[in-house]
Parts: sequence; C-alpha cells; structure tokens
Amino acid sequence: MELKELGRTGVKVPEIGIGVWRYSGGIEPLRAGIAMGATLIDTAEIYGTEDVVGQAVSGIRDRVFIATKVSGQHLRYDEVLRAAEASLQRLRTNYIDLYQIHWPGNVVPIQETMRAMETLVDRGLVRYLGVSNFSVEELHRARLAMAKYPLVSNQVLYNLNRREIEPQLLPYCEANGITVIAYTPLDDGRLARHSQYPRNAQGQQALEWVAAQTGKTMAQVALNWCVWRPSIIAIPKSNSAARVVENCGASGWRLTREQYELLSRAFQAV
Ligand SMILES: NC(=O)c1ccc[n+]([C@@H]2O[C@H](COP(=O)([O-])OP(=O)(O)OC[C@H]3O[C@@H](n4cnc5c(N)ncnc54)[C@H](OP(=O)(O)O)[C@@H]3O)[C@@H](O)[C@H]2O)c1
Repeated sequence: MELKELGRTGVKVPEIGIGVWRYSGGIEPLRAGIAMGATLIDTAEIYGTEDVVGQAVSGIRDRVFIATKVSGQHLRYDEVLRAAEASLQRLRTNYIDLYQIHWPGNVVPIQETMRAMETLVDRGLVRYLGVSNFSVEELHRARLAMAKYPLVSNQVLYNLNRREIEPQLLPYCEANGITVIAYTPLDDGRLARHSQYPRNAQGQQALEWVAAQTGKTMAQVALNWCVWRPSIIAIPKSNSAARVVENCGASGWRLTREQYELLSRAFQAV
C-alpha cells in the first residue's frame, strides 16, 4: 500500500482507505483491509458505524488512523465538543486521528465551530482537523477562522464520472497543502462492474480496455485513476472482505500517464 502525506503534517496515510457509510459487513472486512495496509477508516457520527470500527480496531488501535465527522447539525461550540465525546465512546478510543466537519453549516459562524475543533486538539482528543463538502470559498473562510492548527483535508465527491472538483477545488487544495479525500470513488459501485446501461458507455469501454491492458479489475483501475495525483486519497466502501482486499490492490502500481489521460478523456465525453 502506498502512503501519502496528510496535508503538510508529515504524517503518512494509505492512499486507499475504507469508508463505512451504509456499511454492514462486520469486523472481518475491516480487519482484512487493515492487514492489507488500508489503515485509514472513515466513519461519521451519523453513519451508525463508529461502533463496528471500534470493535475492529480493538487491540490494534495504534496501527489504525480513524477519521470521523461531526454532523452539520452540531456546529455550535458545545455541540461539537459533545459530539466528539460521544464518537470517542462509540469508537472505544481516547483520540480521533482526523475530525472532520461533515457539511458546511449556514447558521453557526465558522469561527465558533473552528474554535471548538481547535479546543479538541488542545485537549488531546483529536490529532488533525479536516472538513467535508466544503467549496473553495468555505475552505478559505474555515482556514481564516483557525488560529492554531492547519486544515489538513477536505473530503469530497470524486470519481471518473464525477469530476466537479477538477477546475477549482482540486487546484486550491493542491496549492494549499490540503489532502483531498475522495468519497464515493467507485461511483457507488458503477465503476466496478460491467453494465448494459452505463452512465457513460465510452468511459466504460475505456475502463474495460485499461483493465485488460493492466491485468487489474475495473474497480482497481477506477481507484488508481482516482488517487493518481499526490494530493488525493480514496475511501471505497465494501461489505465484502474479498472486495476490500481487491480495492487495496488499487495501490502499489500506477497507470501510465497515457492510460490516465485516456480514461480522463473518455469519461468526460458523455
Ligand atoms: N463526506 C460525505 O459526505 C460522504 C458522502 C458519501 C460517502 N462518503 C464516504 O465515502 C465512502 C465510500 O463511498 P460510497 O459508499 O458512497 O461509494 P463507493 O465506495 O464508490 O461504492 C460503494 C459500492 O460499491 C460496491 N463495491 C465496492 N467495492 C467493489 C468492488 N471491488 N467490486 C464491485 N463492487 C464494489 C459496494 O458494494 P458491496 O458493499 O456490496 O461490496 C457498494 O455498493 C463511504 O463509506 C463514506 O465513508 C462520505
């Protein structure tokens, strides 16, 4: 598993982690992924899966990087502190590696939320601070509201079919040392299977062709494309241990520039 620096922290995280939204696979797939080096697990207070993550990392906590999120409904100072305490209990741990604001709010001033996020770091309950679903402008305001610690990541939708971040958000993150954590990197499984009615027929054909050329599966090619840039890591979800292991096989090799560009072009032409 290849590692990438998280923001400008000097800390390395795997380029393929594991997401656990709508996850019902139990402990085994998470353990299988961790064994393959997918040691970053992404959950959230609203997913209802912090418990199973806590069980999966029991006894190996120090080998795993746990990312969780405070809901966009809990952005008042006290609410953030309470949400983090509750997550820590469900995760059965005394620290969260990466604490993220799940969605930007439009009621609570970002200064208030960020003050709470920084308090959690001061208290040793959180190591790094991130956000999710933030635009360039929201990122900029969040960073200005931080007095002590850097913003290390923005978790956003990104896959071959969903490229909205490419023109502005991705360059902004790259220029400012913010890791992009790509969610839904398999487009909810669409990029992992042959379909009679794909979202993008030309794209699927290219994906199948590159998969055959590289001897990798479609999922592995789609994920490798996703994390091709040094600033991006991805967090695919699967309930199946075999698929989690397959997804880990998206790392440890690289599409050539030609293959990367072929896929980028094929999926843009709808
Ligand atoms: N921050 C946010 O707002 C936000 C929003 C959405 C998601 N996320 C995060 O991103 C993670 C992943 O996103 P996601 O769950 O939306 O979508 P995804 O990872 O793109 O796709 C998950 C789907 O793909 C299937 N799949 C996974 N690996 C496969 C493989 N190798 N071959 C065939 N099918 C495969 C899974 O089925 P099986 O489980 O049956 O294998 C599941 O149906 C979430 O778990 C969550 O942590 C964050």
